[in-house]
Amino acid sequence: MPTALVTGASAGIGRSFSTRLARDGYDLVVVARNEQRLTELQRELQDAHGVQVEVLPADLGDRQQLQRVADRVADPERPIDLLVNNAGFGLRKSFVGNTIEEEENHLDVLVRAVLVLSHAAVRAMRARGSGTIINVSSVASFLASGTYSAAKSWVTVFSESLASETAGTGVRVMALCPGFVRTEFHGRAGIDADKAAPGFMWLDADRLVDDCLADVERGTVVSVPGKQYQVIHTLLRHAPRAIVRNPRIVSRHRPNKS
Ligand SMILES: NC(=O)c1ccc[n+]([C@@H]2O[C@H](COP(=O)([O-])OP(=O)(O)OC[C@H]3O[C@@H](n4cnc5c(N)ncnc54)[C@H](OP(=O)(O)O)[C@@H]3O)[C@@H](O)[C@H]2O)c1
Repeated sequence: MPTALVTGASAGIGRSFSTRLARDGYDLVVVARNEQRLTELQRELQDAHGVQVEVLPADLGDRQQLQRVADRVADPERPIDLLVNNAGFGLRKSFVGNTIEEEENHLDVLVRAVLVLSHAAVRAMRARGSGTIINVSSVASFLASGTYSAAKSWVTVFSESLASETAGTGVRVMALCPGFVRTEFHGRAGIDADKAAPGFMWLDADRLVDDCLADVERGTVVSVPGKQYQVIHTLLRHAPRAIVRNPRIVSRHRPNKS
């Protein structure tokens, strides 16, 4: 049985990844802070699909707890075939209005955790000559809109760079760049989902994961699921930077409180 480790598995996109992968026959290691939700997921997936699900509670913003997850990823006795770096959250305040502690914690979860877990995974995978890393970034990574989009830009460029570095080694690396997805993300960030985007802009988390895994099979390095977001991505790639950072275009991605 191949094994996948999914961060942020207790809700939203990470939960959808875990469910789809269990259905595909993967054993799982599920990571998030909320142990109770992970244990419920473990029971549900083991009962439904007969796979092994290991619960690994951790706050990825905490260096010691992150290291425990990295040690699990690197464990040669229990190899991880697929790493999904998915855990993340949006900030409730603008950079100027926020504390530096909250900004640093955000950076630790969105960037440092992806860096550390990818490093642990890629070395083990390269030694075995196989493995896949999916880093969940965002369409916001193509915009210039607050520290969230800056952090996600790092995730996209880092993933592209690592994909080049591992080309031909049997290790695949992908940045998944979703647009608006119906999850707990907006509620947690204090964003009114009904006002954030019109209905046609919203993606379903299960469909997003199916599209992402199909793109993995195709060898896509930057996956942008949804026709509407593929058009936006193409336009943004060719747009002058003055448009990319225009507040009227990017304001919907910004935190709603200053
Ligand atoms: N929803 C969207 O519109 C959207 C669009 C583009 C990209 N994304 C990205 O997609 C990823 C998943 O977000 P989602 O939409 O599924 O949001 P979600 O429903 O709020 O789920 C976020 C997950 O991350 C976990 N998490 C948050 N902080 C953590 C920490 N410090 N340590 C460990 N786990 C932590 C949460 O679990 P616990 O609370 O139990 O720790 C939860 O499982 C994020 O990286 C997000 O930036 C989302």
